[in-house]
Amino acid sequence: MKIMIDTVKNTLIQIEDGQKIETELYSKLGFEIISKLWNKVGWNEKYAYTFTWQGRPIIQLPEDMIRMQEVIYTLRPDVIVETGVAHGGSVIYYASLCKLLGKGKVVGIDIDIRPHNKVAIQDHVLSSYITLIEGSSTEEKVLKEVAKIIDENEKVLVILDSNHTKEHVLSELECYKNFVSVGSYMVATDGVMQDLYDVPRGSRVWKENNPVSAIKEFVSKNANFILVQPKWLFNESILTENITHWPMAFLKKMK
Ligand SMILES: C[S@@+](CC[C@H](N)C(=O)[O-])C[C@H]1O[C@@H](n2cnc3c(N)ncnc32)[C@H](O)[C@@H]1O
Repeated sequence: MKIMIDTVKNTLIQIEDGQKIETELYSKLGFEIISKLWNKVGWNEKYAYTFTWQGRPIIQLPEDMIRMQEVIYTLRPDVIVETGVAHGGSVIYYASLCKLLGKGKVVGIDIDIRPHNKVAIQDHVLSSYITLIEGSSTEEKVLKEVAKIIDENEKVLVILDSNHTKEHVLSELECYKNFVSVGSYMVATDGVMQDLYDVPRGSRVWKENNPVSAIKEFVSKNANFILVQPKWLFNESILTENITHWPMAFLKKMK
């Protein structure tokens, strides 16, 4: 793909697979084309590996976290289940939202919670909001522990951020679909992998082997889940699309 930007004439030309798109630089389309490339370059440079939340590294694009905050503010879940804890930044982030909302608890699952991360999460001021479970997210034993934590009629939101192969995400979607409440979401993160197969730190196999492939297969077999981009709660722009590492991530349970 070739992009030519002229900041004197204020034009942007993109040529991809023989197709030419010409637009004003200062336009919705101009912003979308630049953002898509910015996202790929930023991922390669590990931009998402530069943030903390309340002292813990959080491996996320800030826009994704602000959009999640909008979803959680609207939904007001009783339980937020997240697979993939790593350093603990995201479970602490969700716990802080629970504290601010005056409701909710967080369940964090990881196959390998490093001792120093476990101590940091357990010693954190928000630790009372968090239950950690160690094990593979799709293991029977882990799923039983999750089930024990969720009380009847609790509103449950599930975020899948562990192993991002198509096979594992598809298996997680199947394992966690019954935990999600009607009207709530399963969020299968990091679908950006589908666009990263040609960046230096990426892998060719990601073109097919990625969370979006799993999501598409899952929705084709589970008609009670639909793919949505949650509504922005404020928008005084003409923009409509999230700038995200989580494309096609939000699966809303309809019944
Ligand atoms: C991308 S990191 C999670 C980032 C974290 N959610 C955050 O926002 O900072 C992925 C994590 O998934 C964990 N993981 C990998 N395979 C897993 C599996 N089968 N079950 C549970 N966790 C897994 C890894 O140990 C790693 O800590």
